[in-house]
Amino acid sequence: MAFLLAKQGLNPAFFKSAPKRVSRRTVQPVRAAGAASAEEVPDMNKRNIMNLVLAGGVGLPAVSLAGPFAYFFVPPGGGGDGGGQSAKDILGADVTIKQWLQGHPQPGSRELAQGLKGDPTYLVTNQEGSGIEPYGINAVCTHLGCVVPWAAAENKFKCPCHGSQYNAEGKVVRGPAPLSLALAHADVSDTGVILFSPWTETDFRTGTEPWWS
Ligand code: FES
Repeated sequence: MAFLLAKQGLNPAFFKSAPKRVSRRTVQPVRAAGAASAEEVPDMNKRNIMNLVLAGGVGLPAVSLAGPFAYFFVPPGGGGDGGGQSAKDILGADVTIKQWLQGHPQPGSRELAQGLKGDPTYLVTNQEGSGIEPYGINAVCTHLGCVVPWAAAENKFKCPCHGSQYNAEGKVVRGPAPLSLALAHADVSDTGVILFSPWTETDFRTGTEPWWS
């Protein structure tokens, strides 16, 4: 090795490993630090308590947020009767048949309630004035989506936007609307709440399959 280094013109002495010296000043602080940290390490009981506190601090907020987050993905409920979605009034309260008939006792009256997916939907008082027809009429115009008012004097629905007209059951009788107003089932629950549910059967006004389902 020395020979090879000398041949390369290098001084072998330069490559001798220096004696390993450990500085007292270096060792002592390490020992001191080690001793101090050993004293500061909490025993197992303290560590368990700290873990519980940490888990509670993180877990409780997560659980409290998880509930509303999951509820966001649950479709709107049916008002507690399980047979559909309750009709809502302008304040968002469930509409009962008793309240409805008190407010709209005239046979054939058509008034809006909040229906499926929040769409404005006409409830129709039956010809006896004793209940409602078993269907609701979606008030969203099939042309460009205006809400279509009921023109009682003319016994038809007339859209103010582009003049489309629908008969008393919501069947289109004049364009530019291309389709009749959508239907929904309207029933009364055991507790007296009016419920809407999807109409998937044949459209009784046209004899065709429902375009909206
Ligand atoms: S939106 Fe009703 S006729 Fe155009």
